[in-house]
Amino acid sequence: MALDLAIILPTLNERGNLAPLVERIASALDPMLGNDGWEVLIVDDDSKDGTADEARGLARSDHRIRVIQRIGRRGLSSAAIEGFCATAAPFVAVMDADHQHDPALLPNMLASLKAGEADVCVASRFAEGASTKDWAEPEREKLSGMANAVARRLTGVELTDPMSGYFMLSADTARALVPRLSGIGFKILFDLLATSDAPMRVKEFPLNFAARREGESKLDRAIAFDFLAGLYDKTLGRVIPTRFALFGTVGALGVVVHMAVLAALLVGMGEGFALAQGIAVFTAMSFNFWLNNWLTYRDKRLKGWDAVLGGWAGFVATCAVGAFANFAVATLLEAQGLFWALAALAGIMIGSVWNYALSSRFVWGRF
Ligand code: GDD
Ligand code: MN
Repeated sequence: MALDLAIILPTLNERGNLAPLVERIASALDPMLGNDGWEVLIVDDDSKDGTADEARGLARSDHRIRVIQRIGRRGLSSAAIEGFCATAAPFVAVMDADHQHDPALLPNMLASLKAGEADVCVASRFAEGASTKDWAEPEREKLSGMANAVARRLTGVELTDPMSGYFMLSADTARALVPRLSGIGFKILFDLLATSDAPMRVKEFPLNFAARREGESKLDRAIAFDFLAGLYDKTLGRVIPTRFALFGTVGALGVVVHMAVLAALLVGMGEGFALAQGIAVFTAMSFNFWLNNWLTYRDKRLKGWDAVLGGWAGFVATCAVGAFANFAVATLLEAQGLFWALAALAGIMIGSVWNYALSSRFVWGRF
């Protein structure tokens, strides 16, 4: 039989979950598609627990399993996108690799797409007949409910669970949307729905959302932030790009730090303007590096002493020209008699555009 369906499993430390999950997928799909009507694509972001090796081990004895190991890249959404683009199957599904999503829904979802009943099939935690009683995370459940209400308005699609991580659609449709997806964070389904020009026809499948089989959730801490960034991206993000807005917000906080240091040295300790401005630039720069690493580039966050120190040095180096321009403009204007705070602000403005353009490429980007 021809290849019909690819199941994309984004993974981050899911070693022990893989073999039993593939087994469950096989018993769900073999009766419908035969032995080679489907494939599993494991997109692993270089998990430290050896998930990719485990996947390769499974793939050696089962050709329906394939592995994409990504190095230096992160993110659930971008892993799903990687999968869309790496399969020849006409239909693609995305699901958690931790057994929270029941593979038994796959045949009905596929049948429904093939019958033309919908553009996307979504396994919903909140549809009539679904249940989250085994999830046992009331906080997350409440948050999901709120997020869903907002998302419904934005996508124009009446959906009980637009944040679901378990869905299926035609691979062509998915790939056609990829160039315009934001691809940041975890809400890939929401991204697809909000990006499509014509509202997609969605069919929901009640899901009994299970507890994770082993390991821990990768999304807990990031979830609220990702959601807000996603909303921004699909609304104001078209005018001012999300990363630049974050960078700008961080920059604005940097200005506060800058001014506080400057005022303390200048007014508090009676230092000269040049020295005070120099120290303020350096302090604000380090503060901005730390905050950008934590927030703006959290999906590419540098971790461990080596990476952080290296990144900081790189940031200082790339910002050196901006910082110098900042310093030069500010001291010049101040010497001309401009009020010290205004002189400092002018310097900051000159420096910041330069800093964004360069650091997004050289510090957190890849060539
Ligand atoms: N490749 C890759 N890269 N995989 C990742 C990454 C990443 O950066 N982060 C998480 N994953 C994988 C996990 O290994 C898992 O297989 C799947 O993506 C979902 O991650 P979980 O850590 O299990 O997420 P969750 O259960 O907390 O969140 C679920 O519910 C959300 C809605 O509240 C997921 O289904 C989300 O997709 C869903 O939006
Ligand atoms: Mn999960």
